[in-house]
Amino acid sequence: MEATQAKASFYFCFFFLFLAQTLQAHIVEWDEVWKQRAKDAHESALAAYDPNPDLVTQHLNSEVHVSLARTKSWKHSLAQDIRMSSNSTRRQLLKKSKQKGPCIASNPIDQCWRCKANWANNRKRLADCAIGFGRNTTGGKQGKFYVVTDDRDDDLVNPRNGTLRHAVIQTEPLWIIFARDMTIRVSEELLVYSNKTIDGRGHKVHIAGGAGITLQFVDNVIIHGIYIHNIHSGHGGTIRDSVNHFGQRGRSDGDGISVFGSTNIWIDHVSMRQCTDGMIDLIEKTTAVTISNCHMTDHDEVMLMSANDKAYYDTIMQVTVAFNHFGKRLVQRMPRCRFGYFHVVNNDYTHWIMYAIGGSQNPTIISQGNRYIAPNIPGAKETTKREEFDEKVWKHWTWRSEGDLLMNGAFFVESGPPDPKAKIADKKSLIKAFSATAVGRLTRSAGALPCKVNRPC
Ligand SMILES: *[C@@H]1O[C@H](CO)[C@@H](O)[C@H](O)[C@H]1NC(C)=O
Ligand SMILES: *[C@@H]1O[C@H](CO)[C@@H](O)[C@H](O)[C@H]1NC(C)=O
Ligand SMILES: *[C@@H]1O[C@H](CO)[C@@H](O)[C@H](O)[C@H]1NC(C)=O
Ligand SMILES: *[C@@H]1O[C@H](CO)[C@@H](O)[C@H](O)[C@H]1NC(C)=O
Repeated sequence: MEATQAKASFYFCFFFLFLAQTLQAHIVEWDEVWKQRAKDAHESALAAYDPNPDLVTQHLNSEVHVSLARTKSWKHSLAQDIRMSSNSTRRQLLKKSKQKGPCIASNPIDQCWRCKANWANNRKRLADCAIGFGRNTTGGKQGKFYVVTDDRDDDLVNPRNGTLRHAVIQTEPLWIIFARDMTIRVSEELLVYSNKTIDGRGHKVHIAGGAGITLQFVDNVIIHGIYIHNIHSGHGGTIRDSVNHFGQRGRSDGDGISVFGSTNIWIDHVSMRQCTDGMIDLIEKTTAVTISNCHMTDHDEVMLMSANDKAYYDTIMQVTVAFNHFGKRLVQRMPRCRFGYFHVVNNDYTHWIMYAIGGSQNPTIISQGNRYIAPNIPGAKETTKREEFDEKVWKHWTWRSEGDLLMNGAFFVESGPPDPKAKIADKKSLIKAFSATAVGRLTRSAGALPCKVNRPC
């Protein structure tokens, strides 16, 4: 019943959506193809929206408990982890030493596929490993492999066979892999179609020095194991968005990954730095997203989730941010949220200059088992920031911190009731997140992994 009402109100908001989309979508001509895609995207978002988000958060939490219990002798080195990894010089040493040591996958996503020597013969195993709100993402699991052999991007309308652009515009499901190490300078936005996996494992694949990746009105995309950095805004122009369609695009913002009106998106083990605008932006009714195991550095506005205060339809947004390392020279927005439901769990925040998590317009933020290490900047010890001065307004927003480790003077300002959507009244049956004491372990291999064929990764 409640779900039906929620759906009805989303339909109502569809009218607003159309207005906003045409203004911001970088689509110059809002033709029949885009109208149809927007409509389909809307349906996908409704289908993916989960009326019981607390069950999704608890499922993730219980998986973490199970995975850590599986890791032999983790208790033994937990104290060492905490001591070592809160100091970044020592963290580097630890990371190096662990890379040489045995393969240990500590979080549930990694345990699902890593540390098996035959990973390269069983790449699609990854498609079964997503958890959190993006859990139904399977990417190109149903499709063939496509091997990118050509690092060029010199034809935006009829891309050469063998290029990444040629791979991502196909309408069939595809599991996209790379023939060798390569740096791809994407000359304008790379428009990825539905049912794709971009899988950089086995090679060092950089998307760098050009425009970024755009997912617009698509469903079911995995981006895994690549490096994205030095992304600039594009000039726009005529760009093909699928084998069947191309059109005029306006200037792109210079986001690393821009996700617009898309559903079932999983971004895992991606290393990112220095993008012009956002590192990852999720906007305009994007939902069912998991961002996990990523390593981010050197950036101001890291992640934006819903881009404007009038995007009321973004209450549909449900996002999991888990096992990421927010590292050196980051400033703010990890993430900055509006309207939706955000489960921020077991991440390591080792650097920020302004704040870690922020937002406006009544987002629900469930912060669990994260480590927040405040910078040595007197005015920046608060991990949270509300873009709203009136406490009478924000005191109703649910922003909760449970089991977070607050270090070097960090403090999290909570507000609102514990979880307005929680269906489980019995407190005892709630599954708490694994405490932040394990964060060093859970995030140790954040970022693209140096996987070698025939060796455990
Ligand atoms: C997503 O996955 C969950 C858990 O596997 C399942 O219960 C649910 O029906 C799926 N949702 C959709 C829209 O397929
Ligand atoms: C971090 O560890 C290094 C190496 O052990 C040490 O030299 C340095 O003083 C430590 N820094 C802090 C702030 O504790
Ligand atoms: C692209 O190249 C591959 C391998 O050479 C070939 O099998 C395939 O048919 C080509 N596809 C197109 C659309 O030309
Ligand atoms: C993606 O794949 C699913 C399942 O195979 C299919 O139903 C759907 O139509 C595909 N999406 C697009 C946009 O082609």
